This record gives sequence, C-alpha cells and structure tokens, in this order.
Amino acid sequence: MSDGLVIAVDGPAASGKGTVAARLGAAYGLPVLDTGLLYRAAGVSASRAGVDPDDPAAAAAAARAIDLMALDDPAFRTREAGELASRVAVHPQVRAALYAAQVDFARRPGGAVLDGRDIGTVIAPWAPAKLFVTARPEVRAERRWRQLTAQGESVSLDEVLEDIRRRDSRDGGRVDAPMAQAPDAVLLDTSEMTIDHAADAARRIVEAARAGWA
Ligand code: C5P
Repeated sequence: MSDGLVIAVDGPAASGKGTVAARLGAAYGLPVLDTGLLYRAAGVSASRAGVDPDDPAAAAAAARAIDLMALDDPAFRTREAGELASRVAVHPQVRAALYAAQVDFARRPGGAVLDGRDIGTVIAPWAPAKLFVTARPEVRAERRWRQLTAQGESVSLDEVLEDIRRRDSRDGGRVDAPMAQAPDAVLLDTSEMTIDHAADAARRIVEAARAGWA
C-alpha cells in the first residue's frame, strides 16, 4: 500500500496510455514510470548480449542487469524493441526480475503513476485509481506508424497493424500476468479522442475514484 495517490494505467500498445499517464503525472505532481521501458530495456539488452530472447533464463539474466537510470536510450523506442519486449515479457522469470522495481515505485510515499499491462492486476492491485486505456487496432496502428516514421523508421502501416495484432495476442494470451482490465478499472476508449480530450476524460476518472476513496 501507499498513502499517496497511486494511479494504474494499463492498456495495449499505442492506446494513448503513455500520454494519459504523463498528463496525469503532471496534473497531480506525481512521478511517472513507463513500465514498458523496463521490458524494452530487457529485450534490447538480451539482444545486445547475443542471447535468445525466447530463452527464459538468459532473458531473465538480461532483465536483472538493466540500468534503471538509463531508460531514456532511443534504442528502446524502436519497433524492434517493442517486439523484443513482448517476447521477453512472457517469461515469468523476467517478470519476477522486474517486479520489485515497479512495486517500489508504486509505493513511493507521495504516490505515483505507472503505465503498463499488469499494473492494476499484479503490480499495484490496491491502487485507488485504475484506468484501462484502449483504442481500435487500426487507430493504434496509425498512431504508432506516425511515431515510428517520425523517428526515421521505414515501415508500412500494414506492417505496424500486424505488429500491434501480434503483440495484443501475445500480451493478452500469456499465462503469467496477461494484459487485462482489472475488475475495478475504468475503460477509456481513445479511438475518437484527441490527446486533450483523453487527458480530460482520464482526469475525471481519477477524480471520481478519489471521491470514492477519500
Ligand atoms: O508499453 P510498451 O509498448 O512499451 O510495452 C512493450 C512490451 O512490454 C509490451 O508489448 C508487453 O509485452 C511488455 N509489457 C508488459 N508488462 C508491462 C509493460 C509492458 O508485459 N507492465
């Protein structure tokens, strides 16, 4: 538990959850952890070490070795890093290696915002405010495609849609901590929303949760 406001923001790739989490962090003056970066760092470090990301023990060793202070590496934002992340994220040993850092962050005395796939279900099931942010796959693919091409990656919209569908199915179908909406999370579908609209809607959800919690 934590005495502060803890906000869990889960959802699939490119749903807008990262932006929503950042806006909520700014609005409430809370630190934000993008937990996807931990899995991206683990996947990229496995690949850099030349180990197979599908080998649970090797991937867990890579996850244990990541530097939590160096999560701003642009290499973690690539299409390849997203795919590597979702492959290493299926291993329970990898999830266990990254568990304590996330729980410690969630338990910060002043509160925190965490975004990921299993924050409301596994990392901070006790969080007083939980959102599950989603959008139609075609909308998410277009958002991600714009991001990737702006970063200089050469990829087609169809390929990104395929990536998104593959990751949704892998993340939602894995045995350990599958991506799931917690029973007490509020669904926010951003398909037809601008960033400002989604951020306002998220804020209202948190305010309603706080009113019930106080
Ligand atoms: O959110 P992002 O796209 O950066 O996450 C990359 C991958 O990391 C996801 O597809 C998922 O497999 C994994 N992940 C996870 N649990 C989290 C955050 C991310 O399994 N809490």
